[in-house]
Amino acid sequence: MTYSISILPGDGIGVEVIDATRPLLDDAANAGGFDVETTRYDWGSERYLEAGSMMPDDAIETLEPCDAILLGAVGHPEIPDHVTLRGMMLPIRKAFDQQVCKRPSVLFDGVESPLRGYDGGDIDFVVYRENTEGEYADAGGHEHRGYPHEVAVQTAVYTRKGTETVVRAAFEEARSREGRLTNVTKSNAQAHGMVFWDRIVEEVSSEYPDVTVERLLVDAASMDLVRRPEEFDVLVASNLFGDILTDIGAIVSGSMGMAPSANINVEGHSPSMFEPVHGSAPDIAGRGIANPLATVLSVSMLFDHLGESEVARDIRRAVESQLADETAPRTPDLGGSSTTETVVEDIRTRL
Ligand code: NAD
Ligand code: IPM
Ligand code: MN
Repeated sequence: MTYSISILPGDGIGVEVIDATRPLLDDAANAGGFDVETTRYDWGSERYLEAGSMMPDDAIETLEPCDAILLGAVGHPEIPDHVTLRGMMLPIRKAFDQQVCKRPSVLFDGVESPLRGYDGGDIDFVVYRENTEGEYADAGGHEHRGYPHEVAVQTAVYTRKGTETVVRAAFEEARSREGRLTNVTKSNAQAHGMVFWDRIVEEVSSEYPDVTVERLLVDAASMDLVRRPEEFDVLVASNLFGDILTDIGAIVSGSMGMAPSANINVEGHSPSMFEPVHGSAPDIAGRGIANPLATVLSVSMLFDHLGESEVARDIRRAVESQLADETAPRTPDLGGSSTTETVVEDIRTRL
């Protein structure tokens, strides 16, 4: 068996965490008895500055045949974010119908939460984020510039297919976990999209009598992820809300540097993409101190998706064992002084 994996390091610490983590793919292949064939594409902001575009015109066709994509991060301090992100990462999520974004938040043993009184194992929830539409749909938005009363319109789109797909995936996940789903919306202010969303959750819930559904408005949910994170099991939310909730999820479980994600094409006709939740972190880029564990855990999710669940589990266990070991290397975000590379080398010895 040979898996072909496309690697998109992107920008800033994206390149650092991906290059450091890359050898882990070979280790995984050796351990799992399969082959991995990787192709690295140097697309991103440097390319934009030189050639005027983030990716080549045939980027999507180039990626389409691969089995999975591993992405670092995109974003450059000297280029507007809407240019870089709409030039590279967002179009991939859309083109490959990666409608389901799965983002787990786990407080591992040996990691300190900024929340008082939480220990390893106390926080363990997963957010299912709709990943291609909502506020990111980019349909019919416009700006009237240069008039005395300037206007900008930003639309949000919710389709039955997109909403139902992520909601169903969240119910399935809840069924396989503790059977509790929190539906996060803003139906008090957004009477069209979010009321539609609630209706779909209600409909799908009839197929999952074993799953209890809690409803929370996104402002209250943000508070509760800080006040009582231990009570959550699975959360489902629209694109923008899911984006915000998962940064909260990352930090309450210790660091932005440890939160992985999977952008899944559920039909399987196009590749899914795996990436850390964090961005290109210009504030620490170039110093070799970015935490690679979000990427390592994303690689674990990648192999899980490919059906290599033992390898996926072993990578996760290696992370758990490193974090539980007080003498193991740690990057500064976790209170240590080790480099990105040292942390991955240590993971490799634990595999
Ligand atoms: P960010 O996630 O890059 O950084 C937020 C904070 O978390 C920073 O203080 C950073 O140092 C820290 N951090 C992030 N990852 C870390 C890691 N692995 N180890 C240690 N510390 C880490 O978010 P931002 O600063 O809002 O965005 C920076 C750029 O990244 C922007 O251009 C943004 O648009 C882009 N971005 C891209 C993605 C992506 O490509 N998936 C995701 C988020 C942000
Ligand atoms: C994420 C990021 C992206 C998003 C940005 C960079 C467009 O924040 O993956 O969480 O909002 O999806
Ligand atoms: Mn985000």
